[in-house]
Amino acid sequence: QAAEVFFKENLPYGLTYDDVTLATRFSEILPRQTRLETALSDRLNLSIPIVSSDMDTVTESRMAIAMAQNGGMGLIHYNMTERDQVREVARVKNNIHGLIQDPIKVTPDLHIADVLEIIEDRGFKFSTFPVVDEQNRLLGLLPGRAVKQRYRDRKVIEAMQPRKDVYTLNQKDIADDPIEAADKFFNENLGIHKLLVVDDEDHLAGLFTLSDIERIAEESRDNVKPSRDAHFRLLCGAAISSPRTSDGDLDGERLINHVGMLVDEGLDAVAISTAHGFTSGVGQSVKLVREQFPDLTIIAGNVTSGGGVEYLADAGADAIKVGQGPGSICTTRIVAGVGIPQLTALYVASRAAAKKGVRVIADGGIVKSGDIVKALTLADAVICGGLLAGCPEAPGQILEIDGKLYKQYRGMGSLEAMKAGSAARYGHSKSDKNRKVAAEGIEALKEVSDSTDVVLGQLVGGIQSGMGYLGAKDLNELKNQARYIRVSAAGMRESSPHDVIEVKASKERS
Ligand code: XMP
Repeated sequence: QAAEVFFKENLPYGLTYDDVTLATRFSEILPRQTRLETALSDRLNLSIPIVSSDMDTVTESRMAIAMAQNGGMGLIHYNMTERDQVREVARVKNNIHGLIQDPIKVTPDLHIADVLEIIEDRGFKFSTFPVVDEQNRLLGLLPGRAVKQRYRDRKVIEAMQPRKDVYTLNQKDIADDPIEAADKFFNENLGIHKLLVVDDEDHLAGLFTLSDIERIAEESRDNVKPSRDAHFRLLCGAAISSPRTSDGDLDGERLINHVGMLVDEGLDAVAISTAHGFTSGVGQSVKLVREQFPDLTIIAGNVTSGGGVEYLADAGADAIKVGQGPGSICTTRIVAGVGIPQLTALYVASRAAAKKGVRVIADGGIVKSGDIVKALTLADAVICGGLLAGCPEAPGQILEIDGKLYKQYRGMGSLEAMKAGSAARYGHSKSDKNRKVAAEGIEALKEVSDSTDVVLGQLVGGIQSGMGYLGAKDLNELKNQARYIRVSAAGMRESSPHDVIEVKASKERS
């Protein structure tokens, strides 16, 4: 009977990013004048609307640090033990931008020849090292000018500047604003290039270099504003699933314990992430977490319907992840025959979200900056997986195939990822025999890309360009200014470079 209703009336039509283009509007705004601030809740603001995906080949602490340093945020994946995930979050929250927290150090008994060998073996581009004893107490600083072949037989203890001549700051004195403290120091001590940080017992706690501090000062002039919490720490999110008891019920106690450990480390947002978020399991989890942690930003999903958005909003979520099957490694639509093309899903979700006063995050299917512009006409932020998986900050080994460098990128619903733990996200149990488990993602490779800084810089540039064309000075205006044009197959062909022989593929096609 349901089928009859559908087939007699017009079947709804689903559109995705490439099906539309945005019409230009009168503009008095230059791209560089546009502002990209957004919020994932009333308590969580980002400088750029980009979040890295909670996938085990995309976001661990290194990626989350890079995302937050660039004004976005990372969602640490949960294909690891709860303890490991807590540690990853702690790494992000304890990271101080510009402070190398675990600098490479040497011991006094080494010879300069040993130090030269370390530099060569590990490919270091620097040659100044703090010198510490076995308890990590600072003994001195080995300057680069002493680390030369002609001094190879000297011992580090003879070549180093002794402790009394080494410039240090106490950890406590940099706690408020580390960059400002370091910047002030370098300004007052011209000619000094390294500043060490120690604790009350003179243990080495970090190293600032003049060049890093200068670069950061330069970035703040470029308007790259890191995402920080009220205590000046980088923002960090983490994903969790809804744990089950052996009877298949929600294991509320485990859920609350897990979230509690993350919150103790300073977690800013928890993402209750499953492939199908319009379910009682996810609803109950959101409710429970909301009751226990009233101030925590809760992201929940994924859904593709107005009903799904309303359900999770009523349960207490602040931001709803939208997307089922658009991801570059997803096979949900092929395997399950289910999902809604992403732009239509965002449209229905955004209407429901506006009614409920929650935010929408567009998750998956973004392959170029133009897709982000289109997504942001309906959503408050986007989640990127594939676009970031080739960055050096993403977890995983680099492989060389025929002279080209690649990184592994896999769906969290791929067989390998599910074996590693993400089966719950797809409604399977980890102990299911693989034969019974229907994979909803593939294992793939991405070419190694530029650093996250560079990739995000290009994406931000593209978003700002789009906003300039639409005369939108901020993301709110972008939503109001958007006029969509359907693109034909010929229009689509026209949109990409055509009828030329490409000499060098442009990374960002507009
Ligand atoms: P992109 O297009 O950025 O997509 O690579 C990343 C998003 O895809 C989702 N995801 C999956 N979806 N099967 C799916 O159907 C999977 O195995 C899978 N793994 C990740 C997820 O929402 C992610 O952020």
